[in-house]
Amino acid sequence: MSAQAAVLIAGVIPTPAVRTLPTPELAVSGLAKGFDRGAPVFSDVSFDLAPGQSVSLIGPNGAGKSTVLRCCVRLIEPDHGSIRLFETEVCSLGYAALRTLRAKVGFVFQRHNLVPRLSVLTNVIHGAQARQSGPGTWFHGLAPRRLREEALHCLDLVGLADLAGRRADHLSGGQSQRVAIARALMQRPRIVFADEPVASLDPSAGEEVMGLFVDLIRRHKLSLLFTSHNLRHAIDYSDRLLGLRQGRLQLDAPSACQDVESLRAFYA
Ligand SMILES: Nc1ncnc2c1ncn2[C@@H]1O[C@H](COP(=O)(O)OP(=O)(O)O)[C@@H](O)[C@H]1O
Ligand SMILES: [Mg+2]
Repeated sequence: MSAQAAVLIAGVIPTPAVRTLPTPELAVSGLAKGFDRGAPVFSDVSFDLAPGQSVSLIGPNGAGKSTVLRCCVRLIEPDHGSIRLFETEVCSLGYAALRTLRAKVGFVFQRHNLVPRLSVLTNVIHGAQARQSGPGTWFHGLAPRRLREEALHCLDLVGLADLAGRRADHLSGGQSQRVAIARALMQRPRIVFADEPVASLDPSAGEEVMGLFVDLIRRHKLSLLFTSHNLRHAIDYSDRLLGLRQGRLQLDAPSACQDVESLRAFYA
């Protein structure tokens, strides 16, 4: 068929709609890591995280969940594998480019890592250090008005705007973790990694903070990868559930198909 005929046919016959999957925000392939020349903690770990998707990672203590999260931004150097974050191969980046990429990744840890003697507002303003440097991000008194207002807005999102002036070490555990969440939002991330975000909180504060956290993630259309030992949270707050055990990713399934009882067996 001539090229001309092909163009004519293409003009009259509707082409079927092609459904293309969105490019993953994070694509991990064949990831392996060991320490001190010992056996690998895990190997051949592969998974994707689509834009706006929430993925939970479960597994026994020591399975390597925190290590996987840290390897994704090379806070720990992986031994093998490919990590594509926002379509960029993380493993081949130099330090400056890695820093720029990390600025788009918000981290929320089990320990809130606030600076204890500084104000809540200053701690949230520190989130802007991921994208800009200089004294304007050191203390709230030095910060330009637009940064203070943005930080106050982030605090408002976690319901703590009225505690902006309080010292961080005068907060409850639940309040501290809310401030850490506000600080992560201040970063304007595209993706958030959360490592057992509510494990240090009592059950009631844990429920409240986890619900608020995931609601904010969804409202801002961010992608989320989180670890948890709370199987209810791992199911309810994710679209997809990964299970790491004995050095391998042994579970990768839609969360809606999971239940707490069968997941318990994963720890046996
Ligand atoms: N920096 C490190 N140096 C040596 N061993 C480490 C280091 N970080 C983690 N490990 C080891 O790697 C394994 C996995 O740890 P981790 O990722 O913290 O597991 P998890 O988060 O699933 O509990 C553990 O055996 C831990 O002791
Ligand atoms: Mg861990």
